Amino acid sequence: MTRELCSQALAFLQCVNLVLSGLKHVNSPRNHISISGCDNGIVSNLQITAPESSPNTDGIDISHTNNLDIHDLDIQTGDDCIAINGGSSNISITRVSCGPGHGISIGSLGKNGAYETVEQVQVRDCTFSGTTNGVRIKTWQGGSGYAKNIIFDQIKLDAVSNPIIIDQFYNPGGAQPNEASGVVVSDVTFTGFRGSSASDQAIKLSCSSVGCSDITLDNVQITSSEPGDTVTASCENAHGSATLTTPPVRCLGS
Ligand SMILES: *[C@@H]1O[C@H](CO)[C@@H](O)[C@H](O)[C@H]1NC(C)=O
Repeated sequence: MTRELCSQALAFLQCVNLVLSGLKHVNSPRNHISISGCDNGIVSNLQITAPESSPNTDGIDISHTNNLDIHDLDIQTGDDCIAINGGSSNISITRVSCGPGHGISIGSLGKNGAYETVEQVQVRDCTFSGTTNGVRIKTWQGGSGYAKNIIFDQIKLDAVSNPIIIDQFYNPGGAQPNEASGVVVSDVTFTGFRGSSASDQAIKLSCSSVGCSDITLDNVQITSSEPGDTVTASCENAHGSATLTTPPVRCLGS
């Protein structure tokens, strides 16, 4: 099939007071729902289903959108369950069950030198089962802008490959040299995490020379999904504090 024929199932552009509720989406050829340029919306009680092996089938893609309340969704897909892209603020995501899929992502931001911003995001009471990521912030080298004032709270994990990940070197095409500019990541809180990691690295805070600041982990308990295995945390240029967190995050600079 050519790319032109593969279109998203449902797109909302430049809308005000969107209310989307009670739908069931099955097997969109590309991303299922995209919301762009909208203000004041409520998206609730949706079921979105696509096979784990289907590429580019994001559940909900959000960009340039403010004041969006998303709650009570069940998403099974082959890509991000929800992706929050540039130009978005005050996005609240509550009671979303994700898996299989690639988790809930902020970004990617800053591709091809773009200036992009995301702020005021609250992700609460969400569950990830067998996903490749849990909660993720991904930014490209060489961009600018920021991702800030973000909270992930009360998150349940069941055999998630990368439960907590900040990646300022995002590039699916390969490794990136450390560039002087990038999207600044700050004021990000991870709290009330419980569950298991399918990889050894449960927490990865991988920041470029631009750095990540005011990263807070509190009351995070992640064990291995393989009985007897231990999990670790890694950081690079990440600053903040970790309390009551397992695995311990000793690498976080103050
Ligand atoms: C954030 O968005 C919600 C709707 O989801 C709205 O009720 C609230 O007033 C907004 N908060 C701010 C600070 O704009």
